[in-house]
Formats: sequence, C-alpha cells, structure tokens
Amino acid sequence: MLSYQHIYHAGNLADVQKHALLAWVLDYLTRKDKPISYIESHAGRGVYDLMAAEAVKTGEAAAGIAALQARFSPDHPYARRLAETRAMYGEMAYPGSPLIAALSLREGDVIHLAELHPQERAALAREAERWGAHVRGEDGLKMAVSIAPPTPRRGMLVIDPSYEVKEDYVTIPKVIGQVARKWNVGIVMLWYPILTQGLHLPMLETLMEAHPDAFRHELRFPPVREGHKMVGSGIWMLNAPYGIEAEAAHLDRLFRKG
Ligand SMILES: C[S@@+](CC[C@H](N)C(=O)[O-])C[C@H]1O[C@@H](n2cnc3c(N)ncnc32)[C@H](O)[C@@H]1O
Repeated sequence: MLSYQHIYHAGNLADVQKHALLAWVLDYLTRKDKPISYIESHAGRGVYDLMAAEAVKTGEAAAGIAALQARFSPDHPYARRLAETRAMYGEMAYPGSPLIAALSLREGDVIHLAELHPQERAALAREAERWGAHVRGEDGLKMAVSIAPPTPRRGMLVIDPSYEVKEDYVTIPKVIGQVARKWNVGIVMLWYPILTQGLHLPMLETLMEAHPDAFRHELRFPPVREGHKMVGSGIWMLNAPYGIEAEAAHLDRLFRKG
C-alpha cells in the first residue's frame, strides 16, 4: 500500500532541480518541428496548491521555489511554465512534472502518465483530460517497458519514484536497460535522493557501469528536518541533449547565489 504523497514536498529544492532541468530538456526537444512522446512512470497529481495544509505543514517550498524563483530569468523554460501554471490555477499553484510536460508540448505530441496511488491518480486524471494526456493506473515501470519504443519515436521517459519500495533501487537499472535496448534514441531521466546511508549508491554504480556516457547532476542541501536522511538530490540522464552540461552549470551558479 503506497502512502507517499508529493504535496508534502512540492516545490522543495529537489523539485526545483528536477523541474528546471525537465523544462529545459522539453524546451530543447520542442525546438525542432518534429512530434515527441513524453512518458512518465511516477506522475503524481500533476499540480499542487502550496497553501494546502499538507504543503504548509512541512513548509519545504520556502527553501525551494519561494527562495529561488526570482533567480531564474523570466524567459527560462521553468520560469515560463511557473507563470503559465499560476495563470491557469492561481498564484500559489505549483506545477508537477506532468503539467510542465503538458505546458511544454504541442499538438501532435503524445503524453503517457502512470500513477498507482488512487487519490493521486483521480486528481491527475481530472486535469490530464484537459491537457490531452493518457493516464494509466498501472505500475509505471512496466508501462514504460511496454510502450518503448513509443510513437512518435523522439522523446523522453521520466522516472521519479518516491523509493518507498526499496526494491526500486534494484529494479530501476534493469528497467532502464530494457527500455534503452528497445528505444536507443529515447532520453531517460531518473531522479534519485542523496541519502546519508548511501542507499542510492549501488543503483548509481550499476547505471554508470552500464551507461558510462550518461549525464549526472547532483545538488546538496541541508536536511529539511533534524535527522532527515536526504541531504541532496540527483538527476541521471541517458541520451541527454546537447548543451545540458552548460545548463547544469547555470543551475549550480543559481543554487549557490543568494
Ligand atoms: C515523487 S512522486 C512523483 C512526483 C512527480 N513526478 C512530479 O515531479 O510532479 C512519486 C509518485 O509515484 C507514485 N508511484 C509509486 N510507485 C509507483 C509505480 N510503481 N507506478 C506508478 N506510480 C507509482 C506515488 O504514488 C507518487 O505519487
């Protein structure tokens, strides 16, 4: 039984890193006049209210989007998606990755989303209908393998688990291997936590061994609460677009400012 709900963490530093890079990649992909597929295995509810009791309870957005948004130039793809989200859903709305994708994509592009949590899925399905996205209530990793290679063939897969199921650390490299064999041009973007106990390290070693040219970006930050085991967040990406290193360096400067 899954209990994780992203509303408690929406807009935190890990979200800013992940969503800023995602918005940049999607902007890159949509510059070419060719349709793309966007597949996301762990979608969440798509849009979050930062004034909701759950978000206020943890207050994680304060050190994340609230502190950092002014550092993004208004024409950065992430800043544009934030502005569009607020215009659609109100000033305190924050876009999850499916909404960032829906706002970035064009007619003719295709979105496949999986979400297992019944409440999260119901909320996502209500919105996704407006966005023209397909939502499935199945295991997102299985969905990704079954869809690859998608039509259109250009595009990306986002894997953003909560790692509630510790088996994910072992399953994910296997799934990425299967997807990469079936879809050698697909961009695969994986989010992972940096944990004091190093639980994420064997997964990364396996991934880097199998895909030595993959891109990696890590952001370190203080734990949100005393004793909290997450001390940073990472993005691992296969077939990352040209220019990603420069964008990551730009984000590093932006995270360090202040
Ligand atoms: C970190 S949240 C996703 C946040 C979202 N990607 C974003 O950035 O807006 C992870 C989500 O995955 C869902 N989930 C967990 N295991 C899953 C699985 N095997 N297949 C699909 N969804 C799953 C959880 O219910 C949760 O909503």
